[in-house]
Amino acid sequence: MTVPRIVLGVSGGIGAYKAAEILRGLQKEGADVTVAMTRHATEFITPLTLQTLSGKPVAIELYDTGRGSDIEHIELVRRTDLLLVAPATANIVGKMASGVADDFLSTFFTAVKCPVLIAPAMNTRMWTSAAMQENVRRLLARGVAFVQPESGPLACGEEGEGRLASPSTIVAQALRLAARGRSLAGMRALVTAGPTREPIDAVRFVTNRSSGRMGYAVAEALSRRGARVTLVSGPTSLGTPYGVSRIDIETAAELAAEVRRLWPEADTLWMAAAVADFRPDRPPKVKLSKRSGSPDIRWVATEDVLRSAGKSKKPRQVLIGFAAETGDAAVKARAKLREKNLDFIVANDVSKPGVGFDHETNAVTLIGRKGAPISLGLASKAEIADRLIDLVHGREPRVAGAKTKTGAAGSARARASAPPASRSPRSGDASVRRRAARTAARRGSRR
Ligand code: CTP
Repeated sequence: MTVPRIVLGVSGGIGAYKAAEILRGLQKEGADVTVAMTRHATEFITPLTLQTLSGKPVAIELYDTGRGSDIEHIELVRRTDLLLVAPATANIVGKMASGVADDFLSTFFTAVKCPVLIAPAMNTRMWTSAAMQENVRRLLARGVAFVQPESGPLACGEEGEGRLASPSTIVAQALRLAARGRSLAGMRALVTAGPTREPIDAVRFVTNRSSGRMGYAVAEALSRRGARVTLVSGPTSLGTPYGVSRIDIETAAELAAEVRRLWPEADTLWMAAAVADFRPDRPPKVKLSKRSGSPDIRWVATEDVLRSAGKSKKPRQVLIGFAAETGDAAVKARAKLREKNLDFIVANDVSKPGVGFDHETNAVTLIGRKGAPISLGLASKAEIADRLIDLVHGREPRVAGAKTKTGAAGSARARASAPPASRSPRSGDASVRRRAARTAARRGSRR
C-alpha cells in the first residue's frame, strides 16, 4: 500500500469552503495532503482552518521565509503524486492555460510533472465563455484532467453548469489519478516519434507529414507515471516533455541504430515514429543541379525497425506498433501484429477527419493478441496516450484506502480482453473531453 501524496490547490470562489470537506475526504481515504491557497481563497476560508485540518503549513506566497524555503517547494514538486485544484476559478484556469506563475499555486503548477486534476467552479456564463473553453481545451491537450462541473443553482442566483462537482466525486477521481502518478515507476520505456528524413542530395530530402505529437504524448504520459523514458525523435517542432531524455535522429538508419542499441535494456517500446519505408540509394554529397536533368533516383528499402524489434523481443518486453492505414485499419493492423511479433498495435484510419498525421486529435483502435479490438473515439492525443497506457500497461496499483480494485496485477493481454467500460480511466470529465475534442476537430487544427 502506498500513501498518495496530494497537493490541494484552493482558489478564491464561494465553493472554497468545500475544500475542507475535500481535504477530509482525501485524508479519510489515506492520502497525505498539503494545501496551497491563492490570496483570494483566503478571503473565503481561512488558512488556519486548512492548516489545522491538514496538520501542515499552508503555502500561499512564493517567497515566504517564515513558512518554508524554496528548497522545500522543490522538494514538494518532487514528492507530489497529484495536484488537485478545487475549486478552480476562471482566473486560475486561465493562468494555468497560459503559464502565468505569480503566486505559489500557479508557480507550482508550472513546475510539477505529476498528474493534474482541475475541478472548476464558476458562473455558467464564465464556464461556457469562449476563452474558458479554449483554456480547457488547451489544458486537456496537455494531459490535464477535469472534473466536470455540475448543473444547478449557482451562488450568484443563476442556474446552469458551473457548480463545483460533489466532494465525493472529486475525491474519487483524485485518488485514481494520484495512483497513476507512480504506477510505472521503475519501468524503462523507449518511444520513437516523428518523421524521418531521407536525403536525396546534400540539401534535399524526402519526409512525411508526421508531427510527432502522438509519440510525444505517449512519452510524456509514461514519464508522468514514473517510467524512465527515452524518446528517439525525428525532426519536429515539439519541446521535449519534462523528465524525458531525447535523442534526435534524422534518417531511418539512424533511428534503427538507436533502437537496436536501446531496445535490449528497455521494458517496452512504443514505435510511434513514421519511418520511411524507402530511401534514395547513394544520395550524392553535393547539391544536384537542374542542368543535369531530372534525377534518376533508385529507391532502396529501409530496415523495418519494428520487425527487427519483434524478432529480438524477450518475454518480459512489451512491444507496441502503430499502423497508419486508409480504410479497414483494424484488419490490416491485425495482420501486422502477427507478422511483426507485436503485443499490441495501435491502428488509425488516417483518411478520417481529425485523425492521425498533422492533427491535434486522434481516434484509434488498440488491437492485442487476444480479445476484441478496443476503439478509442476522437480525443486529444494526450488523452488517447493516457487511455492506451492504461490498457497496455495496466491501471494504477491499489492505494491506501482507495476503493478501486483495478490493480496493476495481471497481464496486459488479460486486461485487453476485459470489457472496455470497466477500463474507462475517468468518467466524470468525459463530456468536457468530448466537447474539447469536437471543438478541436471542427477547427481541424494542424501543427
Ligand atoms: N516502421 C518501422 N520501420 C519502418 C517502417 C515502419 O519500424 N521502416 C514501424 C512504424 O514505426 C510503425 C509501424 O512500423 O510502428 C507501422 O508502419 P507502417 O508504415 O504502417 O507499416 P508497414 O508495415 O511499413 O506498412 P505497409 O506495409 O502498409 O507499408
